[in-house]
Amino acid sequence: MPTPSPARMHDFTVVSNEQIARGVYSLVIEAPKLASMLKPGQFVNIRVPGNAMSLLRIPLSYASANPETGTVEIWYAVVGDGTERMAAWTPGFTGDLLGPGGHGWSVPKDCRRALVVGGGIGVPPVLCLGRELSARGIAFDAVVGAASSDTMVGVHEFERAGAGTVAVATDDGSAGHHGFCTDLLADLLARNDYDYIATCGPGVMMKKVADAAAAADVFCEASLERMMSCGFGACSTCNVETVDGMKGACMCGPVFDAKKVVVW
Ligand SMILES: Cc1cc2nc3c(=O)[nH]c(=O)nc-3n(C[C@H](O)[C@H](O)[C@H](O)COP(=O)(O)OP(=O)(O)OC[C@H]3O[C@@H](n4cnc5c(N)ncnc54)[C@H](O)[C@@H]3O)c2cc1C
Ligand code: FES
Repeated sequence: MPTPSPARMHDFTVVSNEQIARGVYSLVIEAPKLASMLKPGQFVNIRVPGNAMSLLRIPLSYASANPETGTVEIWYAVVGDGTERMAAWTPGFTGDLLGPGGHGWSVPKDCRRALVVGGGIGVPPVLCLGRELSARGIAFDAVVGAASSDTMVGVHEFERAGAGTVAVATDDGSAGHHGFCTDLLADLLARNDYDYIATCGPGVMMKKVADAAAAADVFCEASLERMMSCGFGACSTCNVETVDGMKGACMCGPVFDAKKVVVW
């Protein structure tokens, strides 16, 4: 018998929906019960009305959740039809979503220092993890990568969350290291004693992080992105090949032990 999904239907009202980088928006919604339930690494599955041909909800991680104000902040990149329609939402717009989906990060109980690595729009799930690490008194460093400085998100938020170091890389050299953010790992791993590494971003980036973590013998988790049709374990569109067989990202993930992932 599979574990029942933790996801439930929630109504929401848009508080704000603003562009924060080129092609990236911050959506703040009011959904009080959801805001008190979400754990870093979990996701929501949002209904985006307006196209009768597009029936599937859009799975999105969250950047922050505030149980006191009852709000949840989501950062999304406009990449296609659904996210284009989301970008037109204005304050007061109402909708519904399914959440929280899946399970989040499993920070080891005795963790003293962690490293989080976010690439592109993979930053939100590691940003909310960084905030939680700080709240738990666990020191952490962050690595942020992006194609260019104008698409980069999360650097100031990581600084405000108390990251020891925020190392930055861009593919075009417009901010920080000119190259991949994974180029920065060797130095950080040599200078610090990490107990845990968490990563989210393009598959090829996460594989490099996982390989560096394995070489340094540090427990590493990765949040994987897959197409998702249902978001609660009914359709198998989100399968991830692991050493233990196929696992649905929406129920067994999206966060996986990086050592177990076969196909990124
Ligand atoms: C657990 C999870 C968390 C996510 N969190 C975020 C987030 O925080 N912010 C964010 O911007 N995006 C996130 N995504 C990706 C987001 O769901 C897709 O970008 C979105 O569904 C695209 O919808 P669309 O209708 O605009 O594009 P479409 O028109 O459906 O597709 C545009 C392009 O994106 C590809 N695509 C669509 N959905 C996915 C998917 N799930 N995985 C890989 N490629 C896809 C399509 O193949 C196509 O090439 C997440 C995905 C998952 C599974
Ligand atoms: S999205 Fe349907 S089983 Fe995961």
